[in-house]
Amino acid sequence: MHNRKRVIWAIYHKEGTKKRVKLDKFSISVQNARMSHAQQAQISSDVCFVRAYAKINLTLDVLGRRADGYHELATIMQTVDLHDTICLTATGDQRVQMICSIPELSSDDNLAARAVYMVRQRLACSQGVRIELYKRIPMAAGLGGGSSDAAAVLFALQQWWQLHLSPAELLSMAASMGSDVPFFLTGGLALCEGRGERVTPLARYWLASMRWLLLLKPPISLSTAAVFRNLPAGDYTEGTNSRMVSNALNARKDPQLEYLQNSLEREVLERYPEVAQAREDLLRAGAQFVRLCGSGPTLFAPFAELTGALQVQQRVHTLGYEVYLSRAIHPNTGSVCFF
Ligand code: C5P
Repeated sequence: MHNRKRVIWAIYHKEGTKKRVKLDKFSISVQNARMSHAQQAQISSDVCFVRAYAKINLTLDVLGRRADGYHELATIMQTVDLHDTICLTATGDQRVQMICSIPELSSDDNLAARAVYMVRQRLACSQGVRIELYKRIPMAAGLGGGSSDAAAVLFALQQWWQLHLSPAELLSMAASMGSDVPFFLTGGLALCEGRGERVTPLARYWLASMRWLLLLKPPISLSTAAVFRNLPAGDYTEGTNSRMVSNALNARKDPQLEYLQNSLEREVLERYPEVAQAREDLLRAGAQFVRLCGSGPTLFAPFAELTGALQVQQRVHTLGYEVYLSRAIHPNTGSVCFF
């Protein structure tokens, strides 16, 4: 453990000048005296935990199909407190080991592993890392779980290895892993355009009528690619919904519910009866408003008060549904924790 070869560099200030030191366990303890508490915590650690939050889409406007096969979007996303937990451990070998609570995700194809490989390649380093991923966010569910895991690993490595990647560099690495990944680098509430990678944070405002969110995952998994491929042009919009909702939120006003639309919802409800049934069951259980998350199949239902949300949760739970009680969250550096 202690003679492990580290490739981590620390920048610190000594007698008015900036010094760069290659770190190993020993030099960390020597230099610690001159570092702030926060720097100590970041550098002297072998282990880094990070949370990867799920998201919902308040709006999702599909504007049209692009020449590269992707669709041009305008979508407003908000992170919610349902999260995966990732533990990164520095190892003495040069391997990237991916271990997931869902065995079929324990492979190098996992976006969390791809994020580590990408950073190592960018730095031309071969630091061994064990990635342990505890999944809570349902897979292929429209909640952005895989994308969030990838962004969380990039974000964590940036701090853990003291990387000086520019925001543009981080963004381009994130976008190369998936359309939603850039959003998860910052999370919170944002308007995402292009194929999703152009992220504009919105005012830190959240609707009182949506303090509590039920996320109901119908018993099917959907492929995002298939949902987009099957979308008829008749479901495209001009982006009015996302524009109206962004404007309202930036003015710290509640948007009108009629603008909270998802262009993919009509097709998903029609093509997948399990989702239509789940929507009906949520409404019958007392939800006033139900929308599809991303490309589905997860549905979200907002509530102003906890008691209302718990009642509906209990009812749909009795019907056998997988359902989570959640809330909007603005993640910050608190999502990363070092030991
Ligand atoms: O970018 P990501 O790999 O997450 O997208 C998965 C699939 O969803 C893409 O291969 C594409 O078929 C579809 N998609 C799209 N337009 C977008 C985002 C995703 O057509 N803006």
